[in-house]
Amino acid sequence: MTLPNSPEHAFLDLGSETLEIPFVPASEGGAGLAINHLRPKTGYVVYDPGFSSVAPCKSSITYLDGENGILRYRGYPIEQIAEHLSFMEVSYLFIHDALPTKEQLDVFTNMVRDNMMLPENMRKFFDAIPKNAPPMAILSSGIEMMTAYRRREKEPIDDPDFIPSAVYRLLAEAPTIAAWSHKTSVDEPLVYPDGRLDYASNILHMLTWTPINNYEVDPVMARALDVLLILHGDHEQNCSTSTVRMVASSRADLHACISSGINSLWGSLHGGANQAVIEMLQTILDNDRDIGRVLSRARDRNDPFRLMGFGHRVYKTYDPRARIIKQAAHDVLATYMPNDPLLELAMELEEAALQDDYFQSHNLYPNVDFYSGLIYRAMGLPAKMFTVMFAIGRLPGWIAQWREANLDPESRIVRPRQVYVGPAKRDIIPIEERG
Ligand code: CMC
Repeated sequence: MTLPNSPEHAFLDLGSETLEIPFVPASEGGAGLAINHLRPKTGYVVYDPGFSSVAPCKSSITYLDGENGILRYRGYPIEQIAEHLSFMEVSYLFIHDALPTKEQLDVFTNMVRDNMMLPENMRKFFDAIPKNAPPMAILSSGIEMMTAYRRREKEPIDDPDFIPSAVYRLLAEAPTIAAWSHKTSVDEPLVYPDGRLDYASNILHMLTWTPINNYEVDPVMARALDVLLILHGDHEQNCSTSTVRMVASSRADLHACISSGINSLWGSLHGGANQAVIEMLQTILDNDRDIGRVLSRARDRNDPFRLMGFGHRVYKTYDPRARIIKQAAHDVLATYMPNDPLLELAMELEEAALQDDYFQSHNLYPNVDFYSGLIYRAMGLPAKMFTVMFAIGRLPGWIAQWREANLDPESRIVRPRQVYVGPAKRDIIPIEERG
């Protein structure tokens, strides 16, 4: 590949021919090389397992610079966002591409709040779910189920100025489904949303209230949850977001796309890592607290063990979200779980890993999932609910990505190619003749 003297093209030298490859300019960060005509013109495909060097879209939602630990939503630095905005403002920012005025925020917040009640018939769906069912499975199928209750009128989803009603409904219904998935899983009565509470407070209320404890939401805890949701808001083209966009490319309905995204988030290399971190910390604590052995297992290529909550495809330095969450974990746990042995262990483990040659040479730092579970735990949530909370935070980002994909005139159905390595053509031997 020759990179340009010309500012508009690169040239790929294939021996017998040279392919001209146009640049796709970026407003910040790396530009693209438009190789979509590679196969039609040459018969070659691009082999890139994990898509490390593939950009399937242009996007104006999130900017991420992994070398310098920079994350911005619609241009605004994550540090400022976490300090000054609420999750509802961030949701508005993602969906409308602008910060709301006070009046716009009120209308938006009320639209969400007014849709938080699930159709009463949905209780039957939860009745059918066995106790101890994984809440992520209940969340994804519950959201999918909501398409059955969708109003059927046709909406102009191709109009950039029109926000489909499904967007508000999804933001509103998802916390109720999430909270009910928890209540179902622990076999407690379902709690209805309370119209007087804000978004994060409502989540805590529906998760925690029982007729016995008569739980009242603590505003400090509600703000901590709001910040966690904000920090999970969007993270450009990761596994679950790519799933949402991929499903959207076939023109599937919003709820179907989001339900697919939730399933993609579930795995322990992605959003499921927050659960895996707590389970890992607990195992270390239960097994003589030997941090040296843990790190040596993480270094060992023959051992499938990895230090959960460490490493990232894009960040090659400290994840800026992890920095904010670490501080929040200290603040919340100081009040709610002082001297938590898991927090102490997490800090020791982090320090030891950051000084370890292997972790340094591989640029492995704590990611967003390393400390978040400690806060969810202080909220009284079981580990299997942590990824559900991540999913609720990621909703506005997924919705914005779904809208962007729908409105993109260059978007096409996703249909990658492969490098076939199976057998060449062969003929079937009749069963009587097979040895
Ligand atoms: N512990 C030990 N070694 C690691 C780790 C880890 N957590 N992460 C990466 N490595 C090593 C890996 O073994 C490989 O070593 P070598 O080059 O010597 O073979 C090298 O670092 C590159 O790893 P990779 O698997 O090629 O990197 P990737 O970009 O494909 O994977 C990752 C990224 C996040 C899946 C991975 O770092 C990992 O498994 N981390 C633990 C799980 C985790 O915390 N996931 C949450 C990610 S952030 C939130 C989110 O995405 O939802």
